[in-house]
Amino acid sequence: MLQPFAPDQTPYELIGGAETVQRLVNAFYKRVGQHPDLKPIFPEDLTPVARRQYKFLTQFFGGPPLYSQEYGPPMLRARHMPFPITPKRAWAWLSCMSEALEEAGIEEPIRGFLFERLTMTAHHMINTPDDEEAAPRKSIDPGRE
Ligand code: HEM
Repeated sequence: MLQPFAPDQTPYELIGGAETVQRLVNAFYKRVGQHPDLKPIFPEDLTPVARRQYKFLTQFFGGPPLYSQEYGPPMLRARHMPFPITPKRAWAWLSCMSEALEEAGIEEPIRGFLFERLTMTAHHMINTPDDEEAAPRKSIDPGRE
């Protein structure tokens, strides 16, 4: 990941590597599991998704490509299609992430830089308008219903 500072180090290295990413993921899912807008679309047991997110964020921050090695190309928007992601939920996700970045001890200016990249990705995930929040997902294969 390119950044306007410390060009010889990745954000992953700058924030302290694996330990910091793990602290971030723990702080993030602790909040997701309690957030009224997010809780309903996440599974009860957040352990598997936290494990995949750890691998994804490691590579997103410029560390080893753990996620792609295991799951192939991230194609995150496609992977999020089964879940109604409204603008309200994207803001909820980002507010949990903003607090988690702080709790994990990630300092400025890198914190703002990473949050900006995560904000762009979160907007890209939106696939449902706010007023269709509760509508059931249309199957992409109606023949199976
Ligand atoms: C915009 C708001 C977002 C919402 C509401 C959301 C919600 C979800 C949900 C419900 C899941 C599936 C949980 C399950 O397995 O049942 C998921 C998986 C995942 N999300 Fe998000 N997400 C959002 C944004 C993001 C962003 C910005 C990223 C990356 C920076 C991200 C990365 C991931 C990853 C890596 C997975 C696991 C994918 C897999 O199955 O391999 N999400 N998300």
